[in-house]
Amino acid sequence: MRTDGYKTEALPSPRWLLAEVTYRCPLQCVYCSNPVEMANYRNELDTEDWFRIFREARELGAVQLGFSGGEPLLRKDLEDLVAESSRLGYYTNLITSGVGMSEDRVAALKEAGLDHIQISFQASNEVLNDYLGGNKSFQHKMEMAHAIKRHGYPMVLNVVLHRHNLDQTAEILDMAEALEADYVELANTQYYGWAWLNQKELMPSLQQVRDAEAVANRYKERLKDRMQIYYVIPDYFEKRPKPCMNGWGNVFLGVAPDGAALPCHIARQLPGLEFPNLHDVSVREAWFESEAFNHFRGFDWMKEPCRSCSERFDDFGGCRCQAYMLTGDPANTDPVCEFSPHHDKIVAAGEAAKGSPDATESEAKPMVFRNMKNSKVW
Ligand code: SF4
Ligand code: FES
Repeated sequence: MRTDGYKTEALPSPRWLLAEVTYRCPLQCVYCSNPVEMANYRNELDTEDWFRIFREARELGAVQLGFSGGEPLLRKDLEDLVAESSRLGYYTNLITSGVGMSEDRVAALKEAGLDHIQISFQASNEVLNDYLGGNKSFQHKMEMAHAIKRHGYPMVLNVVLHRHNLDQTAEILDMAEALEADYVELANTQYYGWAWLNQKELMPSLQQVRDAEAVANRYKERLKDRMQIYYVIPDYFEKRPKPCMNGWGNVFLGVAPDGAALPCHIARQLPGLEFPNLHDVSVREAWFESEAFNHFRGFDWMKEPCRSCSERFDDFGGCRCQAYMLTGDPANTDPVCEFSPHHDKIVAAGEAAKGSPDATESEAKPMVFRNMKNSKVW
């Protein structure tokens, strides 16, 4: 903990709490952003621990609570966790693959006060969906998408895009339309965790990204009164970075299954930082006083070119994890930025990406599937 008199009243409070309630998951998505060493963090917080964390974060000002994982439905106490967070006044969101869901569970979650469900698909056809997820799930996802809608939730679909499914953007949006989706997030892969391991196999070509964007724009126009479509361009084809987490220790508080409090969900890969565990310390101590949360908070830690750049107040110098993975120093400018002396690495990764995959590629170049067995290697 810091003892140098950080003025906590001058610091922002957490607004968005992401509860990664488990790393267990029936799927094995090759682009999962969970840490590759997740097998090291298997001792999960119990129900009472989570209740205390929810209460303490709410007292500090958190208003939105996302249940994520792994697959949060694998927690048998999920309905209790939702009920408590709803009682505390959070706006609650379940981020799920739909595996582990049933019509009864949707009803129970509704009864518990859950506000919002986001269900993910890997692709618009069963074969590719089940291949990318490493398990059979497509038909069940379709049934659960209908069940979610039947219980009065807005239909929120999320599909992670990469070179193996970008060319099917029209089919994905046809599926969303048939499911009467209200919102569709077409989120190009962010290269963290397992996606970083599989980057060469997942990275699309610029042509694929632009073609898919044109398709998304056509559907946006045609369906504008019925369906909101969000198409997020991959970082690697941008010249300015995203304001990752809206700034370190600014609004976002992630809690890993074992209780580690994290300024971003994969921050544990960063060297030299020790993250507080909410099993041992309060949310207040972790957020305001820990070295880890204060390390990249604000602007004083920045190096050039960010340090004297007027954009720093909007983008916070980009992503610390991306800076670390690509340059070896998390305090460097995110190399997505065209002003970074390492921007050539981003350009090279994008330029190296091949065009659309051929039918035999996945057999020829197998990807690393996200599971506990593969995780033990790290
Ligand atoms: Fe943002 Fe830093 Fe690039 Fe300026 S130099 S645009 S602050 S990342
Ligand atoms: Fe860790 Fe951006 S993902 S700071």
